[in-house]
Amino acid sequence: MATKNRSTLVIQLLGGVGMLGLWWLSGYSLLDGEPQDTLWRFFGRFHPVVLHLPIGLFVLLAILEIIGLRRSDSKATELVPLVLGITVGVTLLAVATGTMLAYGEGAKEPLVQEHMRNGIWLAMATIMLGVMRTLPSRGTYYMLLVATAGLLFWTSHQGGSITHGRDYLTEHAPDSIRRLLGLEVEESVKVKRVEDLVVFDHLVQPIIEQNCVSCHNPDKLKGELSLESIEGHLAGGELGPAVVPFDVEASELLFRITLPQDDKEFMPPDEKTPLNAGEISLLAWWIEQGAFSDQTVGTFGPLPVQVDDYVAAVFAEMLSPEERARMQEEQQELYAALAGIRAEHGVLILPLEVGSDQFTLETNAVRKAFDDGMLMVLAPHAQNFVSADLSGTSLTDAGIATLAKFVRLRALNLSRTALAGATLGQLAALSELESLNLYGTKIDAGAVDQLAQLTQLKQLFLFQTALENEDALIRLREALPDCDIRVAAVVEPLPEAEEKSKDTETS
Ligand code: HEC
Repeated sequence: MATKNRSTLVIQLLGGVGMLGLWWLSGYSLLDGEPQDTLWRFFGRFHPVVLHLPIGLFVLLAILEIIGLRRSDSKATELVPLVLGITVGVTLLAVATGTMLAYGEGAKEPLVQEHMRNGIWLAMATIMLGVMRTLPSRGTYYMLLVATAGLLFWTSHQGGSITHGRDYLTEHAPDSIRRLLGLEVEESVKVKRVEDLVVFDHLVQPIIEQNCVSCHNPDKLKGELSLESIEGHLAGGELGPAVVPFDVEASELLFRITLPQDDKEFMPPDEKTPLNAGEISLLAWWIEQGAFSDQTVGTFGPLPVQVDDYVAAVFAEMLSPEERARMQEEQQELYAALAGIRAEHGVLILPLEVGSDQFTLETNAVRKAFDDGMLMVLAPHAQNFVSADLSGTSLTDAGIATLAKFVRLRALNLSRTALAGATLGQLAALSELESLNLYGTKIDAGAVDQLAQLTQLKQLFLFQTALENEDALIRLREALPDCDIRVAAVVEPLPEAEEKSKDTETS
């Protein structure tokens, strides 16, 4: 018995000295970030296996002690010295393999260093436990046992964070638990329409989080690159920015994901699942459009087909079955309502594509019967129209106020109506309006000031109106420099204006 005691004491003493040495080394940049292609790495990779032993044995130890405390006659406590001894041994082994792993793989992130130091503390604490268990008074031993359990939990969690990322454990925790831990609670995405998806938050970043952030985060800066935020994308890593707005060719991120899969620079590496074509086309499109951080899908006109399909698929996934059913129901109601209006009033209402909630409005068949009142009938669905042809109708200046509610109109044809133009400025509310046709209307010189407010316009047709004169055109072209203003060719513009009109015609 005496020799046995002595030999465990020797192990503990040596272990303690070893740990002190490691502690000293760890502060001495033992982890230099350089991978070592030696046996260190081979042995180090046993760390994830070995580390489960101290955890399991510690739990066993705690159970034995608790049984012993509750029933003093229990034989359970007889096992304690043995279990404690083995715990010390495997804890030392875990620290040793962990050190080899970190050193061999060339890790030096702060999280790894913290984890390593806590591991060393843990080994020293178990050694202390071994020593104190032999003392007659157990009070401090039990306190240290509880403290060590806490440290063990924390250290294992840190280790897990190194492999799985910091919020691995809490990522899917219920919001109440996340709040309790002081963690950010993600606002559940309440997006009702595809157009409201925020491109970066809802489309770009989920791809990156799924595939890249495990290696590219502030704790694990592979290639010195963190992709956790838009700033990280733009700042990039060793090779410069990962994302260059408007420039797909110069964006390292896109370059890496589009390499042949067997290229050693291909991302994600190590046989991880490559990004699929839809994901790649979305990332490319996002960069092409300027790699913005807060714009929504709706800010852009029609999306390229592949991107559009991908976005639609993501949106569908975000909806619960109930939401999907409700949206389908709403859509059916919308189609029924519009079909009713069409049948009753003879206007033509067509969806942009099958199942779309965007429509075009045509009034050819009813013309004169279509007046300001009819526009009111359509007003409840104003946001569903992207183009409206009201040419030749009985619309008046008073009706423009109703038209101002059709905020998603991109093209509006008001030609040959009785408009005098006194209220056209209200169309400034149609922020997406690109094309306005006023051909053959009765608008007068007073309309110039009204039209000058429509700075969103790209095209304005003024054939056969009172504005087809130099004075009005010069003023309008000055107010709307980005707008292509079309008039009949017979009007001879002033030399200066001629230059401008040529510019706009060729561009
Ligand atoms: C398993 C870990 C791992 C994953 C996952 C991973 N990378 Fe990397 N990445 C690395 C390593 C290691 C480097 C540094 C070596 C290199 O440049 O190839 C790196 C480098 C990069 C670089 C170059 C940074 C620079 O400036 O040097 C980019 C860009 C990049 N990764 C993008 C990605 C993208 C995008 C994904 C997700 C599709 C991804 N990575 C997933 C490990 C990973």
